[in-house]
Amino acid sequence: MTSEVVENELEFYSKAEKYWKDVPATVDGMRGGYGHISSIDINSSRKFLQRFMRDGSNRIGTTRALDCGAGIGRITKRLLLPLFKTVDMVDVTEDFLTKAKSYLGEEGRRVRNYFCCGLQDFSPEPNTYDVIWIQWVIGHLTDNHLSDFLKRCRAGLRPNGIVVIKDNMAQEGVIMDDVDSSVCRDLDVVRKIIRRAGLYVLAEERQENFPDEIYHVYTLAMR
Ligand SMILES: C[S@@+](CC[C@H](N)C(=O)[O-])C[C@H]1O[C@@H](n2cnc3c(N)ncnc32)[C@H](O)[C@@H]1O
Repeated sequence: MTSEVVENELEFYSKAEKYWKDVPATVDGMRGGYGHISSIDINSSRKFLQRFMRDGSNRIGTTRALDCGAGIGRITKRLLLPLFKTVDMVDVTEDFLTKAKSYLGEEGRRVRNYFCCGLQDFSPEPNTYDVIWIQWVIGHLTDNHLSDFLKRCRAGLRPNGIVVIKDNMAQEGVIMDDVDSSVCRDLDVVRKIIRRAGLYVLAEERQENFPDEIYHVYTLAMR
């Protein structure tokens, strides 16, 4: 299966890379002008993640997390570094990773690796991560690349580890955005891709208190 709406894969990726090269390396840039909802986003994500960290035989470890499509490290800084001993970041835009080194401040010492790479070409080190966090970036991968990437993420998990996708979901079908060269899929399409990757959804939650005019945002945890 390939993404029905992506006609030219090479162009799809190169247009997106070009788009992000021109975006300011700021929290507002990461959020397309919606920087002010970053705290609401992070606070909900923290609550979501902490339910997997409570006592119990299945709780996730706190050794290492991977932030995918990390940008300048908005999530690494406020969600992942406070909860995990070390974090790795991967993003296709070199300038964002360079900016991250100052944006993250002192705590940024605990970022082990800054991988500059498209997720379609990236393989997390096997058996390494307690959490692989993938936020506001799945629309930049074709269906096949997303499913293959999720398979590699699955292999990258430590025992009890989880992969988390947090992203915009269309009401129905798949919508192409020519401006940043991305697609927005509905929840059913995303769930199918997850299943195809051999992952099982453990929890799913709609983000509350976001502005009405933007896409619904869902968080899905899987392993
Ligand atoms: C909307 S921003 C989200 C950044 C971060 N996840 C956050 O929520 O603050 C999208 C990010 O995805 C990155 N990106 C776009 N296409 C990518 C790809 N194919 N592989 C990896 N990163 C990509 C961009 O450089 C940008 O940093």
